[in-house]
Amino acid sequence: MMGLDDDLKLMIAMAKGEKAMDADAAQAAVQRIKAGTPEIATLFKAPETDPKSEALPTIWDEFDQFTTLAQELEQAAAKAAPTIQDRPTLAQAVANIGGACRACHRRFRK
Ligand code: HEC
Repeated sequence: MMGLDDDLKLMIAMAKGEKAMDADAAQAAVQRIKAGTPEIATLFKAPETDPKSEALPTIWDEFDQFTTLAQELEQAAAKAAPTIQDRPTLAQAVANIGGACRACHRRFRK
C-alpha cells in the first residue's frame, strides 16, 4: 500500500545488515511513513468495491477504529524517528512500526 511497504522493507534490510546502516536514510523512511499515514484513512473513505481488494468490509462499519489505528501508526513513527541511531535502535523502531501495521492488518485485512 502506497510506499509504506518499501520504506519498512528498507528499514528491515538495514536492521538485518543486508544493507549498510544509514541512520539518516532510516529516519527519512520513517518520516515518509509518518507523512503517508493520514492518506490511509482518505484512501479508504469510499467503500472498496474492487473484488481483488483484501480490505475487509468492517472497515466501513468501524471507520473510527480504522482511523485510530492509522493514527497509532503515525504516532509510532513520530516516536521512533528521533531514536534511530544504529542497528539495535533501528530494529526497535521496526518492531514498533511493524506492530502498528500489523494491528490494522489483523483486524481489517483479509
Ligand atoms: C489503518 C489500517 C492500516 C495500517 C495502519 C496499515 N495498513 Fe497496510 N493494509 C490495510 C488494508 C485494509 C489493506 C488491504 C487493502 C486492499 O487490498 O484494498 C492493506 C494492505 C497492505 C499491503 C498489501 C498490498 C497492497 O498494497 O494493498 C501491504 C504490503 C501493506 N498493507 C503494508 C503496510 C505497511 C508496511 C504498513 C505500516 C507501515 C501498513 N500497511 C499499515 C490497512 C492498513
